[in-house]
Amino acid sequence: MIKNFRSTYADIQLKNLDFNLINILNLAGSSRFVCPMIKANAYGHGAFPVAQRILKNAQLPLGVMLIEEALELRSAGIKSEIIVFGGFDQIGARQIVDAQLTPVVSQFEQLEFLNSIVVDSIDIHVKFNTGMNRLGFNISESDKIISFLKNHPRLKVKAILSHLYASQLSHLENSSAAIQAQCLSQMIEQFKDFGVHAHLLNSDAIAHLAQFKDQPQHFLNQHNWGFRPGIMLYGYRTNEIQSPIEIKPVMALKSFILDVRLVKKGDSVSYNGTWIAARDSEVAIVPIGYADGIHRLLSNRAHVVVEGKKVPVIGRVCMDFLMLDVTEISNVSLQKKEVIFFDDRSQGADDLARDAETISYEILTSVSSRVPRRYIETEVHA
Ligand SMILES: Cc1ncc(COP(=O)(O)O)c(C=O)c1O
Repeated sequence: MIKNFRSTYADIQLKNLDFNLINILNLAGSSRFVCPMIKANAYGHGAFPVAQRILKNAQLPLGVMLIEEALELRSAGIKSEIIVFGGFDQIGARQIVDAQLTPVVSQFEQLEFLNSIVVDSIDIHVKFNTGMNRLGFNISESDKIISFLKNHPRLKVKAILSHLYASQLSHLENSSAAIQAQCLSQMIEQFKDFGVHAHLLNSDAIAHLAQFKDQPQHFLNQHNWGFRPGIMLYGYRTNEIQSPIEIKPVMALKSFILDVRLVKKGDSVSYNGTWIAARDSEVAIVPIGYADGIHRLLSNRAHVVVEGKKVPVIGRVCMDFLMLDVTEISNVSLQKKEVIFFDDRSQGADDLARDAETISYEILTSVSSRVPRRYIETEVHA
């Protein structure tokens, strides 16, 4: 392995991942289906180490979007169930069968592809479009699917599922989520001869369920809806509602101060001179840029944490560097000092997300492969 010559890292706090997972599993109880989503390189955290850590805690199926993601996990040695959510063509169907993956089927021809290849039998999950209008069969296709499955018993349907498109409002009984749940309930009824379970709840909906768990009438409690937690596993929530599930951010993105230079009043910093010093200023150079996942939109917008203080990112974020105005903290020597973009204490990826007009998901998944992940075994902070 090549040594890392630049102290820019994404630290992955494995104890925080355990903490989040255990809290989700406690809420789920023992009989509920739980499929941690580790697609997109486990939201940037590293699919293989995250998979290993999850499986150390509990034998759970793991959710990915792409066949490629599943095959990487298989070749790294993950033997447990992997569910592929993103669809497949005929060539993909062959890979799914060979690597013993569990496909989520969303199109009729996918049933045919699988049936033409599979020798013994294959477990499948059937996805319904209940309003997202992305993947999934229409509800009106259910009779046709059921008759195909009854005639082709090598395809063993284990579960049906759907995906909520506005889960942040899933606490409301008259929300789109409630309507989507209602549609999936109808499908449970139709598929009852197959003995299927149904999975529906992503992080937001799981957080809401935690709030309403003592209200059996609430639609979130109507069925033992399976969980597919993504962002909450990595320590973020997407709504303001305080959830009884405690979670902690897993990733900390850090760099360091490479150099500090004096910039005279009136001089500019970085490309196109979008920041001009209003006073003689001390400017820190940090070796991280948009090629590492720090969005260029954060130019002149974001704050980072140095010596426990928030300091502004000034001028354009470059491909490999960005600059900070550290004039306010220049009373201490800043050479080589740590720069925190986000962690589990000082500020979160959601703070950067707000400044970049995006969501924590995008900030986390944007941290590029150029940033080494360090897997850390520290205790969870009190
Ligand atoms: C099908 C499916 N299920 C579950 C999730 C997890 O969602 P979240 O990260 O909001 O928990 C995703 C993520 O987009 C998804 O695509």
